[in-house]
Amino acid sequence: MRALVTGAAGFVGSHLAVRLASDGWSVDGVDSFTDYYSRARKEDNAAVLRAAGVRLLELDLNTVPLEPLLADVDVVFHQAGQPGVRKSWGDNFSTYTEANVNATQKLLEAARSAKKLRRFVYASSSSVYGDAERFPTRESDLPRPHSPYGVTKLAAEHLCVLYARNFDVPTVSLRYFTVYGPRQRPDMAFTRFVTAAVEESPIKIFGDGNQIRDFTYVEDVVSANLAVAESTRVAPGAVFNVAGGSSISVNGVLGHIREIHGSELHVDYLPRVDGDVFRTGGSTAAIAEATGWAPTVDIREGLSRHYQWAAKGIAEGTLVRL
Ligand code: NAD
Ligand code: UGA
Repeated sequence: MRALVTGAAGFVGSHLAVRLASDGWSVDGVDSFTDYYSRARKEDNAAVLRAAGVRLLELDLNTVPLEPLLADVDVVFHQAGQPGVRKSWGDNFSTYTEANVNATQKLLEAARSAKKLRRFVYASSSSVYGDAERFPTRESDLPRPHSPYGVTKLAAEHLCVLYARNFDVPTVSLRYFTVYGPRQRPDMAFTRFVTAAVEESPIKIFGDGNQIRDFTYVEDVVSANLAVAESTRVAPGAVFNVAGGSSISVNGVLGHIREIHGSELHVDYLPRVDGDVFRTGGSTAAIAEATGWAPTVDIREGLSRHYQWAAKGIAEGTLVRL
């Protein structure tokens, strides 16, 4: 089996590409090494990819012909994108539309003529729901994004559904709920929290810390990608939540980190940030029904692994912070 992983030098893409290679897939990775966070972080991920036997090409999906990349590919795992809820306002928005909407449309067009393609997995987001109608939120609930980022992720998801309906591109969109684990992006909460804990520096909380997230461990996100790639029971155009089942507040997370760290944390509470939703929590009944997938790593175990990764990187002087 041959896979194309876009965004392979990023957080989720690097974990997925390594797992595919170790499972015996032939894996091509592409990434444009955007400057959203440090290139050094992505170079570290790239070294892990190369060691695992993944072929990595540096290219921008928006600027090269994509048909040749898809020619012999069985499954596309489209992880490339511009993430980050809170930075998607103002002048940054065009970066989000370019990376999330335009690049996805271009890849879908190329997928139309990819003869061997049997699955196109798109990394969507819980941010499409905004402040959801109910919890646990189901895929059929009204998507009403609360950030410009969420708007772009939803637009690209709609494109995936359109290309399935009109041109039989075998898409499936996975709505990931706040993913964490080793190599998590440096702008995200857990990487910042565990790094600050290890260094005994202040942890900055946006708002009162009562916001709730359905945090999802990265290996579970990887296994969800594999589950939909391999299943014959997933209809083209399908949309599934991929949620960890944790539904815990940010203050609750700090409680676990305090225990793992073994001493008090320094915590500063700052104003909440525009675009942040109060709560996420996804039903995973639909993906369980279609593929048998369920999350396997609970928040305490996942946080412990994330903490150990940061502690090791800091001790060895190899953790790139930004
Ligand atoms: P990331 O920034 O670490 O990885 C994305 C990668 O895509 C980056 O390495 C970037 O250089 C690359 N990229 C961006 N535009 C590109 C282009 N035009 N051509 C080629 N490469 C390009 O982010 P991540 O956290 O790994 O997220 C991966 C995907 O999952 C994103 O699409 C994101 O929207 C989605 N997602 C992430 C989370 C999460 O919690 N991390 C949650 C929901 C959805
Ligand atoms: C994450 C990703 O960044 C998005 O790309 C993704 O699409 C989204 O999940 C999703 O699930 O769809 P977010 O939930 O904001 O977005 O993830 P974190 O950055 O880990 O933040 C979690 C919570 O901690 C947020 O309420 C945030 O405001 C808070 N936070 C974050 C802090 O209090 N302090 C920080 O330093 C960072």
